[in-house]
Amino acid sequence: MNHPPLRILRRGETITLHNVPPERTLLEVLREDLHSCGTKEGCGEGDCGACTVVLGQEENGQLRTRAVNSCIKPAHAANGMALWTVEDLVQPDGSLHPTQQAMAQCHASQCGFCTPGFVMSLFSLYQNHTLQGETVSREQAAQALSGNLCRCTGYRPILDAAESMQTLPRVAVDEVETLSKLKLLAQELRGPEPDSTYISPTTLKDLLQTRARHPQAQLVAGCTDVGLWITKMHKEFGRIIDLTRVAELQRVETYPHHIAIGAAVSLTDAFAALVADRPQLTDFAHRFAGQPVRNAGTLGGNVANGSPIGDSMPLLIALGANVVLMRWEQEKNGKGQIRHREMPLEKLYTGYRQNVFLPNEVLAWIKVPRPTASELTRSYKISKRFEDDISAVCLVLSLHIVDGVVHQASIGAGGVAATPARAAQTEAALRGQPWNMTTVQRAQQVLRAEFSPISDMRASSDYRRTVLGNLLQRFWLESQGQALVEVRQLRAEGAHA
Ligand code: FAD
Ligand code: FES
Ligand code: FES
Repeated sequence: MNHPPLRILRRGETITLHNVPPERTLLEVLREDLHSCGTKEGCGEGDCGACTVVLGQEENGQLRTRAVNSCIKPAHAANGMALWTVEDLVQPDGSLHPTQQAMAQCHASQCGFCTPGFVMSLFSLYQNHTLQGETVSREQAAQALSGNLCRCTGYRPILDAAESMQTLPRVAVDEVETLSKLKLLAQELRGPEPDSTYISPTTLKDLLQTRARHPQAQLVAGCTDVGLWITKMHKEFGRIIDLTRVAELQRVETYPHHIAIGAAVSLTDAFAALVADRPQLTDFAHRFAGQPVRNAGTLGGNVANGSPIGDSMPLLIALGANVVLMRWEQEKNGKGQIRHREMPLEKLYTGYRQNVFLPNEVLAWIKVPRPTASELTRSYKISKRFEDDISAVCLVLSLHIVDGVVHQASIGAGGVAATPARAAQTEAALRGQPWNMTTVQRAQQVLRAEFSPISDMRASSDYRRTVLGNLLQRFWLESQGQALVEVRQLRAEGAHA
């Protein structure tokens, strides 16, 4: 098989690797091929952050840097990008980068296994906020570190380090030089090789034609689901089609009545667009995985994967989102054309991890209606950990209440059926009814009876059903202006603020 060459910019130099199989992860290349063992492997599934590295690429003329999990990233996904690992932060005179110095000064490392990952998440925070002149708050730091676990020190000294790194003398990456080297590197890269083992088309037409030619190849976006099939299930695909470089699909387009999110848009950027329209979704967005997974994964990947416990589908169902699927159709005269079809998101799913995709079809766009004045939307995720955890139950409610009457009700639920689901019976029980406690109590009963969730390690069936009803009650109380009490807002007396 023809493995394409892999070129990465590191420490100002281009590294070229040959014969890298499509499933080989960036972590494997770092540790085993480049003998850079500073980056650690903890879980191998995107959960612990020990393998965090920072990738940089040009975006709108600027250098954009993002922390990602190297353990679930195919190495070829980093082709043409700048890469920083913990070994790359030491300054030419041997002095530590402020992120490293702050970690040492705050005693934020004990066994040290997690430390390279924390340092790299802090480096990304430093690049994207501190160097932009922002004062990083403790909450922002906690967000940036949401994908990193430490079993030794506890998080207080690490958060202290995040705050104190900004007081140390600044150290900046030379952005102009990095951008010019990335530009030179881009010229060295050959265009997508149509029959190689890792194909990264750059236009929509190219993607669709490649998909039509290789319907058996594994399509990937951010690889935060597929990466685990590689590291945990040891799957080999032979050929991967990576859609994240398709220019058309990297866009978020805003129209008067909807926004259209391209399938290559990262979860970070997609949630930013959704939150811009509906600020009440901020917390929900932060609770989707941790930051490195949101930086790599896409909204399109979440929707296409169709896990019944995925978080964005209940939200998108409640908001009335449509999906646009596209494919290339070859005609008898040798020509061909792009065909598309559009449908409500929930129509995508036909059963547990089954969907209506044709073998040559890809999800291209997710169209989300914009809010109107009468809309009342809330999203709830119930999981064992606050961050970086999968939902036991997810419920998103979007009601239009006019003159005290429910005109429209749209409810998406996760963790309660074989697919992400619309709570159609509960919607019917609410529609046309006065928005009061009696209606809510009746609807609670309908909602608890509407699904037959399974019992598993995340929650029992009874728990899930009870919680569903309770969340509807919570929605009602919030709609009446009752202040929301979040467990994480409670602080033990005398605890660090
Ligand atoms: P990929 O892994 O690249 O692809 C997933 C599937 O979708 C594959 O079958 C692929 O072929 C298909 N696919 C991707 N794009 C397209 C397309 N455009 N057209 C057709 N098919 C396509 N999920 C949650 O919902 N909530 C969480 O809190 C959460 N936490 C996570 C935490 C960790 C540590 C990890 C590793 C994952 C977590 N996930 C979570 C799952 C995962 O991050 C999401 O499902 C993510 O959105 C997948 O997107 P991706 O771009 O990485 O998809
Ligand atoms: Fe745990 Fe990569 S090794 S996230
Ligand atoms: Fe040991 Fe964090 S210092 S795991």
